[in-house]
Amino acid sequence: MIVAETGAALREVLRQVPRPLVLVPTMGAFHPGHLSLMRQARKVAGPTGTVAVSIFVNPIQFDRAADLAAYPRPLPDDLAACERMGVDVAFAPAPDAMYFPDRSVTVTEALLSRHLCGATRPGHFDGVCTVVLKLFLLTGCDSAVFGEKDFQQLAIIRRMVRDLDVPVEILAGPTIREPDGLAMSSRNGRLTPDQRADAPRIYQALTAAAAQPTPEAILATARKMTDQSLLAKIDYLTLVDAETLQPVTDLARPAVLAAAVFYGEVRLIEHVAVPAKV
Ligand code: PAJ
Repeated sequence: MIVAETGAALREVLRQVPRPLVLVPTMGAFHPGHLSLMRQARKVAGPTGTVAVSIFVNPIQFDRAADLAAYPRPLPDDLAACERMGVDVAFAPAPDAMYFPDRSVTVTEALLSRHLCGATRPGHFDGVCTVVLKLFLLTGCDSAVFGEKDFQQLAIIRRMVRDLDVPVEILAGPTIREPDGLAMSSRNGRLTPDQRADAPRIYQALTAAAAQPTPEAILATARKMTDQSLLAKIDYLTLVDAETLQPVTDLARPAVLAAAVFYGEVRLIEHVAVPAKV
């Protein structure tokens, strides 16, 4: 495996690698969810193609300085995991290697990012779109794999690629969960034992609520069940259109029931699909 630490070094390494070139963008601190995306990338690239993984805790997508500071950065372990997963090239730039101090261009998605996490994390998705487009341009990848866990991020990246004619195929991998149902996240490790024991409740609430017949019943059930938690503070609990992510009041089209909750300083997101009901 080759490790590149600057954009220029990455370009040089990837200039003549065998295609297809499949990228998995990450912020490191790997858990089995990340590894499953690497496995999927390896499958798509085939034995002769190239898998690249980027490991970069992107400062411009953090809206809270404390969250950025607390984000885990176990780089040697992450590189060893990439090696074990058969990754060909890892890109691990230093924090100041990705942005000019006076950078002044940002990619903004203006519709899908208005709600859900975008409403409470100002500038977050601008930061995500900007770094992801930079990673696409630096690697020249043919396709890139993202997790369905961050479904708003996935939808926004698909929209960016569509609207800007970015020649990268966006692939999605399923959410990998703990045995008790909690979606794996690098933030789970920051929960206290009590919070960790409580956290699966959110996904259980969304799953039970999604089976209700009407939007009102869905939201009421989800709210009632999440309110039973004394530890979780709801950031949002919303039913949105699966494609446009705009709030919906009927189920004429596929929808998504999405929630973000705070356990102390730690913010977790969950969602479940709600099929159209005709
Ligand atoms: P990060 O949180 O490190 O996640 C990297 C990728 O792993 C994302 O596509 C995310 O959706 C996926 N992922 C996280 N948890 C998962 C799980 N439990 N199951 C399956 N996939 C999971 O998302 C980011 O980094 C950043 O915003 C990034 C896209 C790299 C831009 O900085």
